[in-house]
Amino acid sequence: MSVETFEHAVDRSNDHSAKFHAGYMENDPTILPMWVADMDFAAPDSVRQALKERAEFGVFGYTAPWDGVLDAAVNWMKRRHQTEIEKEWIVSVPGIVPALKIMIQALSKPGDSILIFTPVYYPFKASILEEERTAVESPLHFENGAYSIDFEDAEKKIRENSVKMIIFCSPHNPTGNVWSKEDVARLSKIARENNVILISDEIHMDFDHSRKHTPLFLADPLSKDTSIIATAPSKTFNLAGLQVSFLYVPNPKFREKIRKTMSVCGMSDPNIMGLTAAQAAYETGDKWVDGLQERVKNNAEFTDVWLKENLPQIHLVKPEGLYLFWIDFRALNMRDDELMDFLIQEAKVWLNPGIKFGKEGSGFMRMNAGTSQDVILEAHTRIKNAINAREAAKHE
Ligand SMILES: Cc1ncc(COP(=O)(O)O)c(C=O)c1O
Repeated sequence: MSVETFEHAVDRSNDHSAKFHAGYMENDPTILPMWVADMDFAAPDSVRQALKERAEFGVFGYTAPWDGVLDAAVNWMKRRHQTEIEKEWIVSVPGIVPALKIMIQALSKPGDSILIFTPVYYPFKASILEEERTAVESPLHFENGAYSIDFEDAEKKIRENSVKMIIFCSPHNPTGNVWSKEDVARLSKIARENNVILISDEIHMDFDHSRKHTPLFLADPLSKDTSIIATAPSKTFNLAGLQVSFLYVPNPKFREKIRKTMSVCGMSDPNIMGLTAAQAAYETGDKWVDGLQERVKNNAEFTDVWLKENLPQIHLVKPEGLYLFWIDFRALNMRDDELMDFLIQEAKVWLNPGIKFGKEGSGFMRMNAGTSQDVILEAHTRIKNAINAREAAKHE
């Protein structure tokens, strides 16, 4: 499957998606939605075919994950990520965000400190606070347009705050980092030495232009006793509405606690259509993902060049993976609320405000680039026109 497969965005104007129909879109459908992380591409044919066959069968009762889907997930991790997962480690969950809450409840106590690396996917902090734990933040180091982990700061904060858990985003949303094997291994070693449970959210693992993503268990095999990988086919194959994600939990005691907490919350059998789609995607989606990765990589290169030529005051933080672009608008000298209002009302483009991801995100915006180049160009052009109109108005 080539990059051309992803040349055109699907018209989603009547698809009931949150992206096109919720929030700002309710009042003004002319806004271009580049916010929530799902893509404007249809899932692979094989996935749609598997869903059709299941729909034809016509019975949609409570479901037990079957060997075929678990084998497909295990084989994907082996084939695409050189990582051995055992079938019995797998816990099916409806999503990573609900799973974060479940893992926090199951494996920590109210008041415990949990470390995150900011700016980061905002449900991490929200989940920690909603579960009445304390969020300890270690800001990523930002220098020469690139982010890195400040390991000294993280270790100091782990010790000073008796941190019990780390929620790690690998690859990192929103900055676009794909952490190296050395980085993942170093963090894991720090976690082990300080008796900290490491939750590695690897939902963006399949978007990796740098080809260096290393799943936690591969980077540090000793991590298995005290760590969990959380991942899903949902970002990779655009299946978020089917609500299927997987936790890889080697430690049987952790699994038991997680399952018990899920049961307390009334969370039991997974979505039949989600599992059906996951199996087909993981069994047959390799070429589709390769073409998609190419599209996303091209979108990043295109954006970088276009901004340099047309809006040199705005900078793309060069993504190493993910289809989410982290863009530096600080040179516009606007407050965060002003910048958001400007983009919505004058540019008519909806991006996620960087400040939501942590105070270090002030002046930045996250753009969802899981779409065609035409749509990306439309977003850039709208932003440029709005900036030019604003400048012109100043000089009138
Ligand atoms: C890092 C990260 N984790 C989790 C999620 C959402 O996961 P789910 O839809 O499975 O709850 C996202 C969605 O963008 C994400 O970026």
